[in-house]
Amino acid sequence: MADNTYVLAIDQGTTSTRAMIFDRSGSVVAVDQVEHEQIFPRAGWVEHDALEIWENTRRVIGGALAKANFNSRNISAVGITNQRETAVVWDRSTGQPVYNAIVWQDTRTQKIVDRLGGDAGPDRYKETVGLPLATYFAGPKVTWILENVDGVKDRAEAGELLFGTMDTWVLWNLTGGAENDGVHVTDVTNASRTMLMNLETLEWDEQIAADMGIPLSMLPEIRSSSEVYGECKPGILRGTPVAGILGDQQAATFGQACLAKGEAKNTYGTGNFMLLNTGTEAVPSENGLLTTVCYKIGDQPTVYALEGSIAVTGSLVQWVRDNLGLISGAPEIEELARKVDDNGGAYFVPAFSGLFAPHWRPDARGALVGLTRYVNKNHIARAVLESTAYQTREVLDAMNADSGVPLAELRVDGGMVVNETLMQFQADILGVDVVRPKVAETTALGAAYAAGLAVDYWQNEDDLRANWGEDKRWTPQMSEDQREKYYRSWKKAVTKTLDWVD
Ligand code: G3P
Repeated sequence: MADNTYVLAIDQGTTSTRAMIFDRSGSVVAVDQVEHEQIFPRAGWVEHDALEIWENTRRVIGGALAKANFNSRNISAVGITNQRETAVVWDRSTGQPVYNAIVWQDTRTQKIVDRLGGDAGPDRYKETVGLPLATYFAGPKVTWILENVDGVKDRAEAGELLFGTMDTWVLWNLTGGAENDGVHVTDVTNASRTMLMNLETLEWDEQIAADMGIPLSMLPEIRSSSEVYGECKPGILRGTPVAGILGDQQAATFGQACLAKGEAKNTYGTGNFMLLNTGTEAVPSENGLLTTVCYKIGDQPTVYALEGSIAVTGSLVQWVRDNLGLISGAPEIEELARKVDDNGGAYFVPAFSGLFAPHWRPDARGALVGLTRYVNKNHIARAVLESTAYQTREVLDAMNADSGVPLAELRVDGGMVVNETLMQFQADILGVDVVRPKVAETTALGAAYAAGLAVDYWQNEDDLRANWGEDKRWTPQMSEDQREKYYRSWKKAVTKTLDWVD
């Protein structure tokens, strides 16, 4: 294969959409990125305009190609990665969404979730799907749209509507959409976040779909994470195969080359997501983690993961910027935090969407506790950063308890890993080394890998391992006593957020 070829990954994230072009060594050649509107119609509701996202996707593909001075002949394959669980329903003959996409952070489905649990409670479907009933997952969001948007239920039952997570929405549009018979497919990792897929058979569970009132005709076909799904039809990538799909957290795991059982990564994005590769076994969690599909490469055996999902980490920094105006840009949070040696006794528990792993408490709401007149804005900035590290400690403890083998070190990636203060504190509060790879764009890289493997751009997983290199390592410097003292206070702070919503 000529060496002027590359792989393009589309990363459709919670706050922005990016296109990134990678070469064979896994290095970024070009990137383009556009943010989209965050729509908050009511407290607890979070929506995206799916048409805006599709328009942005086209723009960033064009932008990245233009920056690299490439055309479609330079691109061997396209991979897609995406914010998971965000659900959109659209008309198959017009391509028009019937409602905004309901975002993973949205909590409006609490009543639907309670109703589905009934007497059995939140673990009713856990054995089948690996997940507790929670507002986080996609299926109940579809139920909400069917029950609350006029005329939609009848249209769905008549077979006129399609459902997709954002991978499916982007793929369907890329491969032709309404006019050119777009491909209606999702991959096993995204399907594993709907609450509708049986983790063992990798098929939709008809009974759960019926319980949720979702017609099977709306659901995309479930395929592996690495195979040719179709070709781009309209636009500048015409004829290029789309050959990889991974939910963003699974993509980051793949991009971090956590390809062996026992390897784990933690991504610091809007939220934080730690995934531990558990090999070909779907391990049930006893400690508040999710069992999920990690990836499936073509017809190779399915690889599973345990996941600790934290809803609010990076988005707390955004909130401090946008809602409080305490900083004007995200990097300023570190500048403030560095002005003090500690949090001055203040703890910020950002339970804005309730608490996810390992608590799963929808009744929780955010709290800033431990305040005295001594506390100033620098302490609060520090408490904001520390909350990410403490929440990660809770998840790591759960991981260690579930797997029985303590993690020796943690690979990290995502936007916040440039923050040295946070990374050092993270190592201190975990008591294990924290390691950042050379290519920090692991999410897009993972999707590129999945696509590139399917078209033999990369031959096998050894090629991916060879591309991974360490950039920086933070080693714990805090005493055990101090670590546990701080962590006890954090745990106390968490108790103050519970039972807030009836
Ligand atoms: O499960 C939600 C997750 O996929 C969102 O990731 O990076 O867009 O915050 P991110």
